[in-house]
Amino acid sequence: MNRFARIIGTGSYLPPKIVTNDDLSKTIDTSDEWITTRTGIKERRIVTNESTCDLGVIAANNALDMAGIDAAGLDLIILATTTPDKIFPATATMLQKAIGANCPAFDLQSVCAGFIFALTTAEQYIKTGAANKVLVVGSETISRIVDWQDRSSAVLFGDGAGAVVLSGSEKTGILHSKLCSDGNYLSSLQVNNNFINETGFIEMSGNEVFKIAVNRLSDIAQDTLNACQMSSDELDWMIPHQANIRIISAVAKRINMPMDKVVVTLDKHGNTSAASIPLALDIAIRDGRIQKGQTLLFEGIGGGFSWGSILIRA
Ligand code: ACO
Repeated sequence: MNRFARIIGTGSYLPPKIVTNDDLSKTIDTSDEWITTRTGIKERRIVTNESTCDLGVIAANNALDMAGIDAAGLDLIILATTTPDKIFPATATMLQKAIGANCPAFDLQSVCAGFIFALTTAEQYIKTGAANKVLVVGSETISRIVDWQDRSSAVLFGDGAGAVVLSGSEKTGILHSKLCSDGNYLSSLQVNNNFINETGFIEMSGNEVFKIAVNRLSDIAQDTLNACQMSSDELDWMIPHQANIRIISAVAKRINMPMDKVVVTLDKHGNTSAASIPLALDIAIRDGRIQKGQTLLFEGIGGGFSWGSILIRA
């Protein structure tokens, strides 16, 4: 009998401090008009004192509430983050303590593809029967690694967290997932620190990232549909990584997905890296757009490059 990993609860959290495009234009040479037309982003949330763990704990508790289970019932926690609170211990273990769980917990680093990689990892634990209830969190305080004087990257990012609770199911859940990595693109997108005594900031070749993102994401989304012998008109929603509205719409166009079936939240929170897909998912579930039984496609790419897509029946 097939065993699927099914999402039974979602949650998210955004820190309260809003930074609008107009706010940014007071400190760097940019404008609301440039940022809106080039990216679709209008505002982002930035932490003041909150840690990656703090954001993740609120998202996780919201997801556990929706799932109707207690943290003590979890078998595994995977926290996708590029901005862990410490080199060690894993931020996932701090989150485990804060929510009152007692299961194994580890961090997973795949930048903006982190949630896709974490969800796929969790799925493997569930499919094999090694775990039955898994919490997957994407949480980022990415503002800590943004160079706020670099107008080409500072306008893109924001902080936040999203979480899902997965449960083993014999009926429905993740139908297919595919992951890819290509380490040839280090200089296109990286934090070029020496790890020991520098934090470093995001360095990015925006044009190159843009083109690679559109090509890789549309290919992998199509591969995923093909593997499920489905066409995009059988999808109810695409929930893409929220990096740039022009990347999202170019991918949607290539796989023939109308934009009114694409969940877009980046206008309100920018690129929150590993948090962006579970944030968008939670928002669209809580506002009633995504319903049980619908078919969803997740896709995302991040530094490395690493990218992936997941097809899921909710
Ligand atoms: N405000 C005003 N002008 C700006 C700004 C800014 N914030 N940033 C750059 N410019 C200027 C440039 O200096 C350039 O000026 P010039 O023509 O005088 O040389 C001009 O705007 C055009 O710059 P481009 O880089 O060609 O602009 P582009 O249309 O490519 O947009 C952007 C740049 C938004 C970064 C785009 O390339 C992009 O989104 N790339 C993807 C990056 C990304 O998403 N990274 C996140 C991590 S990976 C991921 O999540 C997919």
